[in-house]
Amino acid sequence: MGNRKPLISGNWKMFKTCSEATEAASQLAKLVGGVSDREVMIAPTYTSLALVSAAVKDSIVSVGAQNLFWEDEGAYTGEISADMVTSAGCEYVIIGHSERRQYFNETDENVNKRIKAAIKGNLKPVLCIGETWEEREAEKTFSVLDKQVKKGLEEFSLSDLGSLVIAYEPVWAIGTGKTATTDQAQDVHKFLRSLIKEMYGEELAESMRILYGGSVKPANIAELMSMPDIDGALVGGASLDPETFSQIVKY
Ligand code: 13P
Repeated sequence: MGNRKPLISGNWKMFKTCSEATEAASQLAKLVGGVSDREVMIAPTYTSLALVSAAVKDSIVSVGAQNLFWEDEGAYTGEISADMVTSAGCEYVIIGHSERRQYFNETDENVNKRIKAAIKGNLKPVLCIGETWEEREAEKTFSVLDKQVKKGLEEFSLSDLGSLVIAYEPVWAIGTGKTATTDQAQDVHKFLRSLIKEMYGEELAESMRILYGGSVKPANIAELMSMPDIDGALVGGASLDPETFSQIVKY
């Protein structure tokens, strides 16, 4: 796995009030206290970002936002900028999650703008990509991912992308209990690494972390992490309970 430090991240989606999020974050910080050879990140809702950041301040847990808008500021009711999430204590930001693409009309073009804004604001973007079941059945998985990566990263130069993380989340495996087999996931991760190599060269390809997401649980994390091109996980449902998530962190 080269010298890529594993990143185990939790996407809390639209779950937990401010007090629930603060409580869960404090518990998690304690539970992963002894861990040092991997990174841990949680992404609560916007309203809990500052509270969660304070709760994990002296721990190895870092905080991510679930999205951002690409403008610096302005009359954009309901939107949040890179500087705003940074000022709430974020180090990471999830971009282009399939639920955003599916329910909120996010496209490869505006995912590209969001990544640009994240990098400009010194946030580490986690670019989410993934195929639907129909696309997989039609053997379009690689072409769909190729397009999502190339359009998402359009006009970026090598020097922009040192902190980029890619999360491969097959849409059909999210929240369904249907996990890609480790071989299916490894095949895709290998493909993605070779795509990054072709676009930006071997050094970036070898250092970039590619996470798997989709029904990751304590029972399947170790096998996923044993694959050479799987460098971590983006966990939804199983990240909500600190005890369960800490088991995934300590796979
Ligand atoms: P689940 O782990 O609930 O399948 O969700 C995965 C996901 O969408 C993480 O971003």
